[in-house]
Amino acid sequence: MTNLLKIFVLLLFLELLSAQISTLVETHLGKIRGSLMKTEKGSDFIGFRGIKYAEPPIGENRFKPPIAIKPWSGELNATTDGFMCPQVGKPMHLLSEDCLVINVYTKHSNKNQSVVVFIHGGANIYGNSHSEHGAGPEFLMENDIVFVTMNYRLGPFGFLTTRTKEAPGNYGYLDQVMALEWVHDHISKFGGNPRSVTIFGISSGSIYVSLHLVSPRSQGLFHKAIIMSGSATADYEFDNLHWGRKLARELACPIYNPPDVLDCLRKLPWTTIVSVASSWDFFNMTDMKWSYQIDGHFLTKPPTVTFAEGNFSKIPILTGLTKDEYTFMFNIHENNSGLLNDITLNFAKYAPKFFVHNFDDPKIDKTKIVQSFYLGNQSLAKQKLSNFGKIFSDSMANYSINRLVQLARKFVDVYYYRFDYLGRFGVFENWEGKPLGVNHADDLQYIIKRRMLRKTINPNDPEWFMVTRMVKVITTFAETGSPELDGVKWLPSNKTAVNTMYIGRKVKLGFEPLKERLQLWDKLFPVEISSAPAEQGPII
Ligand SMILES: *[C@@H]1O[C@H](CO)[C@@H](O)[C@H](O)[C@H]1NC(C)=O
Ligand SMILES: *[C@@H]1O[C@H](CO)[C@@H](O)[C@H](O)[C@H]1NC(C)=O
Ligand SMILES: *[C@@H]1O[C@H](CO)[C@@H](O)[C@H](O)[C@H]1NC(C)=O
Ligand SMILES: *[C@@H]1O[C@H](CO)[C@@H](O)[C@H](O)[C@H]1NC(C)=O
Ligand SMILES: *[C@@H]1O[C@H](CO)[C@@H](O)[C@H](O)[C@H]1NC(C)=O
Ligand SMILES: *[C@@H]1O[C@H](CO)[C@@H](O)[C@H](O)[C@H]1NC(C)=O
Ligand SMILES: *[C@@H]1O[C@H](CO)[C@@H](O)[C@H](O)[C@H]1NC(C)=O
Ligand SMILES: *[C@@H]1O[C@H](CO)[C@@H](O)[C@H](O)[C@H]1NC(C)=O
Repeated sequence: MTNLLKIFVLLLFLELLSAQISTLVETHLGKIRGSLMKTEKGSDFIGFRGIKYAEPPIGENRFKPPIAIKPWSGELNATTDGFMCPQVGKPMHLLSEDCLVINVYTKHSNKNQSVVVFIHGGANIYGNSHSEHGAGPEFLMENDIVFVTMNYRLGPFGFLTTRTKEAPGNYGYLDQVMALEWVHDHISKFGGNPRSVTIFGISSGSIYVSLHLVSPRSQGLFHKAIIMSGSATADYEFDNLHWGRKLARELACPIYNPPDVLDCLRKLPWTTIVSVASSWDFFNMTDMKWSYQIDGHFLTKPPTVTFAEGNFSKIPILTGLTKDEYTFMFNIHENNSGLLNDITLNFAKYAPKFFVHNFDDPKIDKTKIVQSFYLGNQSLAKQKLSNFGKIFSDSMANYSINRLVQLARKFVDVYYYRFDYLGRFGVFENWEGKPLGVNHADDLQYIIKRRMLRKTINPNDPEWFMVTRMVKVITTFAETGSPELDGVKWLPSNKTAVNTMYIGRKVKLGFEPLKERLQLWDKLFPVEISSAPAEQGPII
């Protein structure tokens, strides 16, 4: 061999060796083998997928807080995605109750990079962290950060409670806390800085993030928060006990005595539980039934109260809404004149279910006020559907985010935005396939690659500039606590001022949107009386 060839072979060998070394990470739990992946533009990064962070929550462990994973010997094969948690609408071979996995993506295992932990949304019944479905890392990995995604338990598996010590609820939240503890303990081995962790959620995922800000169990595990289109700072009324009893009844289990209820429900296959619980979908729209419980452990008080008292993690917050949120969600019923008529006549009966609030009040008729404010006492005809959709937007996203901004800005910098950019793809589209406005979660397609819309954005698309921009916003915020946006100075909302960044094709700093509509909800559900619904309260 010539010397040149020898050098070449040596270099090739070293190259292979270094590639091999970098896909293997040794944590104090054991070794983890990842695999090489590529960004949309073709740069390399390493993915460690499907790492179990908790023991399987099956059998006796169903409806219980998670148990941390035990150390292993040999190499853990983390080269493919783990199972998604039980839910409907996904192929069976991708689902299992043994689903508590975390995924880590990194470019450099020997640096001290900021960490972004994504908590997926899906109304607490859907969603996943699978790299090819719910949470593709390809966009964010263009930058030098460590990106982490996770699964947590959904629906009854995540939130069923008997409101006794046998089944206190909140398992889905405690799964997330355990995943955050895993990040805290092990992320430095993947080139992540455990002192610079940003938690990032959208929709129900952002409701979780707002809860981690107030939960005593989550304190100290993260340093910045991104809260997109949903926050627990509303008077939502969830009744986990009711849905749990309904589940037990429909499955012919005992209904009231906690040990008997749980014993019976633990013996059933998860497929049976999922198919019964999913049959309660209200008018083919995802309504949030299962959620948090003020259990005296994960949560000690209603989240709004904790924010108002200033007793939350004092860290920078990036939060906002899309321009139209849920405005077009009800259009699926545009031809169902029978239903629309019935809603007009019996608005008060529908409102608590649609808008997940308790409108009971001995002094004022809150449903009447809402109905007349948005619909002007007219019947809910086709042309009024977007007005009806605005009630969804305001009750389910707008006023909770707005309230979060108002309460949190007294203590921390809050970067508040409205996402106005209309690309070619969206959650709610018309018959021509054109998006009807900038809808709930339409902004996520520019940050995370997901198989949800007709197409994912790639570098040749006219929308790619928005991917570059939003990825930069997320990474600069994760690194510094203050986002960088196309050279425009983003002034935060603080004690003295509310600033809103309008993110369209161009960006512009301005004032609060739609004050009048948001004031209505503040009047009907004021911060001062914000309290746990009757069925909540500490565990007895
Ligand atoms: C790891 O798992 C993947 C998928 O199951 C498989 O193709 C691969 O051979 C496994 N690798 C090792 C080293 O066991
Ligand atoms: C990483 O950065 C943090 C500050 O954010 C510092 O405290 C820590 O020592 C650094 N770790 C390493 C391994 O450089
Ligand atoms: C829900 O959707 C299914 C299938 O698209 C349809 O058959 C059913 O009538 C819908 N239900 C309501 C209440 O609109
Ligand atoms: C904050 O909440 C903790 C419990 O989570 C409590 O011990 C503490 O007294 C509270 N502080 C304030 C200022 O309310
Ligand atoms: C609230 O939702 C509506 C869509 O119905 C939207 O026009 C508005 O800008 C949203 N945001 C705020 C802060 O009001
Ligand atoms: C309602 O009816 C119109 C006219 O027949 C049709 O074009 C439209 O697709 C229907 N909408 C839905 C949601 O089915
Ligand atoms: C709707 O009716 C209520 C009383 O039922 C009335 O107070 C209100 O002014 C009406 N709103 C409109 C826009 O007509
Ligand atoms: C709040 O932000 C404004 C700019 O919007 C700035 O002028 C002011 O100094 C800030 N106030 C505090 C207390 O940081």
